[in-house]
Amino acid sequence: MTAMNGSQAHGGIQSEFGRERGRAPKRVLVTGGSGFIGSNFLLSSVPALAATEFTNLDALTYAGRAPNLSALADAPNYRFRQVDIRDAAAVRALFAEVRPDLIFHFAAESHVDRSIAQPGAFIETNINGTYHLLEALRAECPEALFHHVSTDEVFGSLGETGLFREDSPYDPSSPYSASKASSDHLVRAYARTFGLRTRITNCSNNYGPYQFPEKLIPLMIQNASRGLPLPVYGQGRNVRDWLYVLDHVEALWAVYERGRDGETYNVGGSAEAQNITIVERICELVAQKQGKPLAELKSLVTYVKDRPGHDLRYAIDASKIERECGWKPRESLDSGLDKTVAWYLDNSAWIAAASGQEHTAWLTENYSARAGT
Ligand code: NAD
Ligand code: TYD
Repeated sequence: MTAMNGSQAHGGIQSEFGRERGRAPKRVLVTGGSGFIGSNFLLSSVPALAATEFTNLDALTYAGRAPNLSALADAPNYRFRQVDIRDAAAVRALFAEVRPDLIFHFAAESHVDRSIAQPGAFIETNINGTYHLLEALRAECPEALFHHVSTDEVFGSLGETGLFREDSPYDPSSPYSASKASSDHLVRAYARTFGLRTRITNCSNNYGPYQFPEKLIPLMIQNASRGLPLPVYGQGRNVRDWLYVLDHVEALWAVYERGRDGETYNVGGSAEAQNITIVERICELVAQKQGKPLAELKSLVTYVKDRPGHDLRYAIDASKIERECGWKPRESLDSGLDKTVAWYLDNSAWIAAASGQEHTAWLTENYSARAGT
């Protein structure tokens, strides 16, 4: 695990943005704003940019949680529209209504395991949905800037060494990463062919508040705190680069302020860790905070059948965004994990509400198929 710098206050978007208020966008359309990263983006950006109108377009799938944004209910510069990006006509009508000058496109099916079980929705939302947005942009507001929020998973897997750069070849392994790779290609092609203004960020694994408890970190916090098995795929040796979600939010604004049209920026936390290290650290934090014996929590670790096509390692060279946009993560993995575990333990009602019946049934089926092999 990376060396820790200690926890810093981390309220939202960087203060430089406030100082450059003259460059603030007028009307921002956010897709997928009710999901994990979108919620963190809106909760920090809407109050900070009072003169900017934010519209959140979200279909509210199982991953979209309206209560995440209840703090914005009375914000005069925020509104919600329930629209599905698979519906081309509805998307176009919303673009005509909002006339955004800036779009942040977060909406996606985002869970690799679901993409293996049921790839169809990933093709429809991540590829066709992005196509519908680009067509609406072209027709209704061709001068607007379209920021496509993407993932480092498009580059496939690294071996023990090396880093993903912006010019690394695309080599996606899962239906999720293949659908995100397709959407990246569409965005670049629309910029070159139709002269649209686009920027793409490919970010490493995020963690923090409001992440749906099907992803590694919130699932492990939830299960450790309830004394349930901690399902670790394969040997637990796969490596991810972890970024605290509010650092990602700041990276997006840094690219808006200082990035260039047509460019791609890799975003990462320089915080690589094996999955088993993350799980054991979560056990330590939950044990400390709940006053439970550590050995009891660690005994919950259960090695289960590996994910098919499981990428070994992701790691990011983030020197371009640092050099061109002046962005660096503020949170260390230790400080970010500490905050994150504290948030989930304090918000058990949020986890309980998110873990609806459909989701729980899906997880049970998924993990029982993996267990004991
Ligand atoms: P999430 O699954 O938590 O949220 C996705 C949101 O999109 C939800 O609010 C959902 O309701 C909405 N949505 C899904 N299908 C839709 C549709 N057809 N029409 C309209 N809305 C729809 O995802 P997240 O983790 O917040 O990820 C957001 C974006 O960031 C995704 O594009 C993802 O690929 C990318 N990304 C995520 C990570 C990560 O670690 N979470 C890392 C890098 C990039
Ligand atoms: P995940 O949070 O699904 O993100 P991604 O697959 O996009 O990286 O998984 C992170 C890592 O944790 C990945 O290597 C798979 C592993 N993992 C487990 O070992 N057990 C689990 O229950 C989950 C959800 C993931």
